[in-house]
Amino acid sequence: MPSFPRPRIPSLPRDLARRLRRAAPILFTRAAAPASFSRCIGDLSGGHLSREVGFVGLGEMEDVENMLKDYEIVREGEAEIMIHKTIATNEVFYNPVQVHNRDMSVAVLRTFITKRKEEHKAIMDKRDKAHSKANQGKSSSPKGENGSTEKHDEMDVAEKEIIKVADEVKDLSTEATKTPLWKVAREVKAPVVLEALAASGLRSIRYAREIDGLGKVVALDIDKACIEACKRNMKFNGASVMSKVEPHLTDARVYMLTHPKEFDVVDIDPYGAPSIFLDSAVQAVADGGLLMCTATDMAVLCSPNNAEVCHSKYGSYPTKGKYNHEMALRILLASIESHANRYKRYIVPVLSVSMDFYIRVFVRIYTSANEVKKTPLKLSYVYQCVGCDSFHLQSVGRAVTKNNSVKYAPAFGPVVHQECSACGKKLTMGGPIWSAPIHDQEWAVSTLTEVKSMKDRYPAYDKITSVLTTISEELHDVPLFFNLHNISANVKCTSPSAVLFRSAVINAGYRISSTHANPLGLKTDAPWHVIWDIMRCWVKNHPIKEQPHDSPGTAILSKSPNLEANFSRAAAAVSRAQANKIKRFLPNPERHWGPKIRAGRKITSKHASLLGPDVVNRVINGTARPQDEKVIEPNNPTPETVGNATNEEDEPSTKRQKNGDDGLATEP
Ligand SMILES: C[S@@+](CC[C@H](N)C(=O)[O-])C[C@H]1O[C@@H](n2cnc3c(N)ncnc32)[C@H](O)[C@@H]1O
Ligand SMILES: [Zn+2]
Repeated sequence: MPSFPRPRIPSLPRDLARRLRRAAPILFTRAAAPASFSRCIGDLSGGHLSREVGFVGLGEMEDVENMLKDYEIVREGEAEIMIHKTIATNEVFYNPVQVHNRDMSVAVLRTFITKRKEEHKAIMDKRDKAHSKANQGKSSSPKGENGSTEKHDEMDVAEKEIIKVADEVKDLSTEATKTPLWKVAREVKAPVVLEALAASGLRSIRYAREIDGLGKVVALDIDKACIEACKRNMKFNGASVMSKVEPHLTDARVYMLTHPKEFDVVDIDPYGAPSIFLDSAVQAVADGGLLMCTATDMAVLCSPNNAEVCHSKYGSYPTKGKYNHEMALRILLASIESHANRYKRYIVPVLSVSMDFYIRVFVRIYTSANEVKKTPLKLSYVYQCVGCDSFHLQSVGRAVTKNNSVKYAPAFGPVVHQECSACGKKLTMGGPIWSAPIHDQEWAVSTLTEVKSMKDRYPAYDKITSVLTTISEELHDVPLFFNLHNISANVKCTSPSAVLFRSAVINAGYRISSTHANPLGLKTDAPWHVIWDIMRCWVKNHPIKEQPHDSPGTAILSKSPNLEANFSRAAAAVSRAQANKIKRFLPNPERHWGPKIRAGRKITSKHASLLGPDVVNRVINGTARPQDEKVIEPNNPTPETVGNATNEEDEPSTKRQKNGDDGLATEP
């Protein structure tokens, strides 16, 4: 084969040349372009160039160079993707602020791989132990005439040993020990991932490049332009990505339904609601596998104004409480569980995150008809007072033990009177929500530790460590929370500082923590009468102006406290993160941030009001910058961002009365 000198490309910037070389290494070394490079050029040119590029000379080089000029190269983690500079077509979805979402997913996937290895090793050890015990039993027992009876005896011994050994494996998740031993292969196989809604392929490429020990990544999208972009980006990221990521142009629902239990990880990251994907997604996850699911339709999940929509999509009513972002997580979890239950499957949440303008849950999925019967114990209705911030949970089910057997029946109720016991106003009912833990503390801590050990690998390191730090300190067995400023606003008093309030709760014998879902939120196992007694005691020393006689605050304060609140500082009132000055909440990622307009959607007058005339004009004239397309002013959120775009909404509706007292409420 004749050899040609490497062509010189004077005008090609060095980093572009490097990328180009990666996308088409052959170009720089050989005359004849391989099929993959021909395809690459064909793709880059939108199919205008011949797929039969036999000789790539300087002319073609210039073409490629020109084509690349149309693209902006965006780097996130170890992936680089090509974003078309003119976005008048608004073709393929890409939202840079979702780097938090992708980073968190990379981190959780790494934890998943580690945990799976640990679980597998524990199961293998268990199996080996059981086998050696069984063999001992076999050699000490007399040989039976009947081979099968002998085999049964052996199995009995083995089963007994397994149960015994399982009890000994303390650090192993209960779920993992339920896997029948015979189902477990000696070698743990590399997890296979399905990114069901891949768009540009950025996420799949990141998974493939950044996560060691991962198997194949299947990337689906229903949109042709997305799959073309995905393929282009894969090529741009080189051979290792090409060999790992498998793109398909298809409807994810059909694909997942036709690949039952085939994926160790399924990632659902839709525009808005994930509800239409849940039924097929829960079926595509392998036993013990991980489902990762985003929802950005916060106005539906958080607002009682959209209760009908929420009920139709998720089978649950939201209530009007300050805990609404956590309630959104719990509604989504309840909905995933309900879909899973239809197939004798159930979920175990490992991490549930309310971040930026969306929520994302990470749940493991197992199969067990027996466990499914327990689901009603993990669900609750919520009674929310319309006058004050009191809320109460009513479990859907209860366990009934009879003659050594347990059955699950509907719970007794109602657990509250028709009027709020604090202020006398009515209660509305919401739910059912997932009221069992939404995180596995072990997972949260392991993920945080792992992220800290690989700081350079996470572009959103600060954000995800702050979220994981707060999650790791949350009270995991306490559903929902209240906001200190809001309960102070209920009684129209100056808010105590978070430290003083936390101290009073701790001194009364209860636990209290912050929540990652709201900088001012507090979770506690103290009942509401204790919380209101603390506020009554606070008001005694911090008198308020007279209030209308029929206000909820007046009703609350008209009762004398049964408890003498003790506000002296308790050591545990400051979280470890606070004590170590670790940031638990960060400001918004950038000036313009939020969910992006759905790819391909027409720019409408609604967008004009949201994006501003300059951006819209640039978009219409085809002179838009990449970031123009995604901007949605946080102060003018679309219905999809309501209730989530900023933390400002968490401020109490009533202004706090400043009196220079001992510390107004700050971030708890
Ligand atoms: C929000 S984007 C995904 C973003 C991507 N996961 C990321 O991290 O950049 C949603 C994508 O889902 C695709 N989509 C919508 N419905 C689908 C379906 N039924 N099957 C497959 N893809 C679908 C859309 O074309 C769009 O590209
Ligand atoms: Zn009330």
